[in-house]
Amino acid sequence: MNSTITVLPGDGIGPEVAAEAVKALDAVASRFGHDFDLRYGRIGGNAIDDFGTPLPDETLEMCRDTDAVLFGAVGGPKWDDPNADTRPEDGILAVRKGLGLFANLRPVKVFPAVVNSSPIKPHLLDGVDIMVVRELTGGLYFGRPKKRWNTSRGRRAVDTLRYAEKEIERIVRVGFELARSRRGRLASTDKANVLATSRLWREIATETAADYPDVELEHIYVDNLSMQIIRDPSRFDVIVGENTFGDIISDEAAVLAGSLGMLPSASLAGLPAEGGRRRRIVSLYEPIHGSAPDIAGRGVANPIGMALSAAMMLRYSLGLREEADAIERAVDGALAEGYRTPDIAADGGDIVGTTQMGDIIASLTSG
Ligand code: IPM
Ligand code: MG
Repeated sequence: MNSTITVLPGDGIGPEVAAEAVKALDAVASRFGHDFDLRYGRIGGNAIDDFGTPLPDETLEMCRDTDAVLFGAVGGPKWDDPNADTRPEDGILAVRKGLGLFANLRPVKVFPAVVNSSPIKPHLLDGVDIMVVRELTGGLYFGRPKKRWNTSRGRRAVDTLRYAEKEIERIVRVGFELARSRRGRLASTDKANVLATSRLWREIATETAADYPDVELEHIYVDNLSMQIIRDPSRFDVIVGENTFGDIISDEAAVLAGSLGMLPSASLAGLPAEGGRRRRIVSLYEPIHGSAPDIAGRGVANPIGMALSAAMMLRYSLGLREEADAIERAVDGALAEGYRTPDIAADGGDIVGTTQMGDIIASLTSG
């Protein structure tokens, strides 16, 4: 199969981990006889430095005209000025919005081999397998007005939490569809005791449930969810929530997996047809971690979340299931053989850096 993949390494550890995912893709290409045409684009703080914008037009064009996008991370202290006109993060937000990627899937799986790297007691982690479905193109991230200004009585700022019925319904449906294909349970999270948008969200989730009699729907306040996900994580199957709630909950859920560096994500403009390949409905794949400026350039970042993101890309965008399985099994294998990056080395093991871990995953992917 010939496919074009737009790779956006970004800032911080983004380029380091992206390079390792590319090794895994090269291994897939030679083992299964595919031709992946990788095209590199600029995004984030480094693009602000060189082009004055975190998302040059050319990069967005490359994202539109490709089969899939593989994204590393953006941001860093260098671009953290609160008064700056633009920030690295605006680059990825504009790609999400520009491609209509409203559904962000963040699978949270605990690898038994690294269970002790999580601060949560191991028996609570038994059987944890959660899919966080985060709304990605609405809510506080994009609502207008969004600004800050000065008044005679001090500085002010506003963000706007706004949702339209259709935006809620389409993401809730993604949650139901995924729940149907998994263990049949959907937790819809909101703050309906306080927020009008949440009351609308809850209403629409309840109405949509009529189409999914086989799925058990639970409404859960997001503050309560934040507690339950630590107290009893294995009771959750699919969790669906608005943009900001999903952002926060998915980082929290990453604690279950032992490290933020372990988790991949897929950002989709809709669920792909079963096993099918959807041309030119472009999706984006990225680890859920950030640019990790504290460890950038030291060669110690965990490339697993990025490699697993590449696997999700093969499965969802290119319809290459066996190939996706090969990368996922390679990650399992690397961990089972005792290889650990420092973030998942609570039990010791063979501690390796980013490139060695990438080499091991690529070599196991080769079969
Ligand atoms: C994430 C990140 C991003 C977000 C940042 C980098 C804009 O935290 O993907 O979870 O808030 O969506
Ligand atoms: Mg986040």
